Amino acid sequence: MDWQIMFHINKISLDDLKFTVNLTNTMKWDLVEEDFEYMMKLEPNGCFITFDDEKRIGIATTISFDNLGWLGNVIVSENYRGRGVGSLLVRHALEYLVNKHVETIGLYAYIPKVPFYKKLGFEYDSEFIYLKGTAVSMPIKGCTREAVEEDLGKIIDLDRLCFGASRRKLLKPIFLDTENLCQIAIDDSKVLGFIIAKRYAGVAEVGPLVCQEECKDIAVELLKNILNQLKGYKVSMCIPKKETVILKKLVKWGLRESFPLARMFYGEYFGKNYIYMAESLEKN
Ligand SMILES: CC(C)(COP(=O)(O)OP(=O)(O)OC[C@H]1O[C@@H](n2cnc3c(N)ncnc32)[C@H](O)[C@@H]1OP(=O)(O)O)[C@@H](O)C(=O)NCCC(=O)NCCS
Repeated sequence: MDWQIMFHINKISLDDLKFTVNLTNTMKWDLVEEDFEYMMKLEPNGCFITFDDEKRIGIATTISFDNLGWLGNVIVSENYRGRGVGSLLVRHALEYLVNKHVETIGLYAYIPKVPFYKKLGFEYDSEFIYLKGTAVSMPIKGCTREAVEEDLGKIIDLDRLCFGASRRKLLKPIFLDTENLCQIAIDDSKVLGFIIAKRYAGVAEVGPLVCQEECKDIAVELLKNILNQLKGYKVSMCIPKKETVILKKLVKWGLRESFPLARMFYGEYFGKNYIYMAESLEKN
């Protein structure tokens, strides 16, 4: 039987948010209704839900930055898996992004899901490690400082050079939210790197971190500074496996490697030579 003709896809609406949170809770993704509202605000036509008749059965979200898109929150109710719903959602999301003239689409996949995304046209790019732990304070050298509003333009510019597209629509509200933290390292007027952390009640997501490739020490200082400010918070972050020096430091500071992830791309992606940590798994 062709299962897929039984299912239809809509944009996620506010009425769906209880379902989206309950569904993602089954994977312990720690998302709340406000997270989905935020995603819907960032990409109003790009957050999708699948139905079997009236029954909600799966979701996927996207975000587009010029010609670069990102796919996240792909999840199907357990008793509907293996019937093509996930593939249908991903294809629908791809079609939406391609229609918006997005040329390259990225995602972070659990390693066992790599074959699923490969079948849908994504290619493996590189491995990332998701780390968790409690932030502790450490001695710092003082070569970074808290970013101020006048730095925002430069931060967005450096991020664009590293990421490949401007993430202004994502980074500006995060930066302007006074709960969040941002440290910057500047030499003369050149930004060497920056780091952002989003804070919720006792929990913080660290990232993005972007740093000039030759400035490994600065990347370490940025991390130390932000962790100092987050002392006692439960923190998480997602860092390329190839950043072994930084990874070792993070483990030494008490964070533990939680699980690996594969960054994958649909379409061509030209890796940039920067030290980089993801913003979040859904939105990069
Ligand atoms: C990943 C996930 C979204 C896939 O959704 P799904 O609806 O099961 O996906 P599909 O049915 O399209 O494809 C799954 C498998 O069923 C097979 N399949 C597809 N259509 C089918 C059909 N009509 N009948 C039977 N099997 C089918 C696919 O070939 C695929 O096989 P594979 O496991 O060898 O790749 C789902 O497993 C899930 O929600 N997992 C938990 C959350 C998660 O891990 N999300 C991914 C984060 S990276």
